[in-house]
Amino acid sequence: MRANTLWEKTNRYGCIFSYYMDTDKKILTKYQPYFEKIDREVEKALSSRISLVEEIGGHTLLGGGKRLRPLFFILACELCGLQDDILYRISTIFEYIHTASLLHDDVLDNANTRRRKPSANHLWGNHAAVLEGDFLYSKSFCVAVEAGNVSFLKLITDTTTQMAEGQILELVHTNDWNMSKEVYLDIINAKTAVLISAACAGGGILSSADERNVHALQKFGHLMGMAFQMMDDLLDYTADQAVFGKPVGKDIREGKITLPLIYALQEMSDVEKKRIQDLFEQQEPSEEEYQNLIDLVRKNGVLERVRAEAEKYVDEAAFCLDGFPASPARENLLELNRFIIERHH
Ligand code: FPP
Ligand code: MG
Repeated sequence: MRANTLWEKTNRYGCIFSYYMDTDKKILTKYQPYFEKIDREVEKALSSRISLVEEIGGHTLLGGGKRLRPLFFILACELCGLQDDILYRISTIFEYIHTASLLHDDVLDNANTRRRKPSANHLWGNHAAVLEGDFLYSKSFCVAVEAGNVSFLKLITDTTTQMAEGQILELVHTNDWNMSKEVYLDIINAKTAVLISAACAGGGILSSADERNVHALQKFGHLMGMAFQMMDDLLDYTADQAVFGKPVGKDIREGKITLPLIYALQEMSDVEKKRIQDLFEQQEPSEEEYQNLIDLVRKNGVLERVRAEAEKYVDEAAFCLDGFPASPARENLLELNRFIIERHH
């Protein structure tokens, strides 16, 4: 089958979004020279005397990640006037932490696929996947130490601490049908936005930018990261699996209550809410019951509401860069910020 026939089909739920993987690619093509340098460094630091480490690392790290976090770091450095090839090595920290967290996350979720490929836990088992995550996580700190900057190191350690907290908070609220939007925002900040924020702020710190600019970059990354996870949670209900790279409706199957569902529950009568809650508190809801709930979330303008909310975060993020003089780096960061709400996978 030609790859595009699947992407080009109209979404059968009449959703307002179109799903063109090529659009995503086109936006990112101009950053190819950056991605090539990032990839070279990612590959270099992956070396290990244990071949299985390299094998799993090759599968997870060298197979399909968008490298957005390292790119944000490099562009934040450029924005603050710092350009140096050594920064590409430092940028790998953000990809290593990200990949380590996904390796662990896939074990927690018992996921079979990641980035349109079998997940590491599926191929090598949970033990190997967790340990590979530990390896990459440790590697990220080896590289962070090389930067020789205590503030930067503190930023990285604070970030991973918060990520672990975010994931535990999510665990605590699994299948919590009364979870509030505030808790949801707390979770997505900790599990996703803090790392994107650190990539941006880290560029400011290593460039010796003044406190005001570091703070602006930190806030820019935070708001963009919040929008990023909101879109991820939205795509979970809307995207085509072949484009998104993971099964649609995966969150609800994992008992994850995200913003589309929180809003959908708000639209329901108490009777309807109770009926669904009871249904899903059963041991094994059927595939039809999952589909019904997914369809319910897709109705009532809930998805448009979530997208509008993500757009608000992106707009606010853009304001954070107002204090920086116009430059290609600023334009690029603003473009990537918009890409967050336009991406399809
Ligand atoms: C994916 O989100 C998971 C994360 C963004 C964070 C995972 C964090 C941890 C496992 C804890 C911290 C670990 C380290 C090594 C610092 P998702 O489940 O919403 O996305 P998905 O649908 O792609 O799985
Ligand atoms: Mg997950």
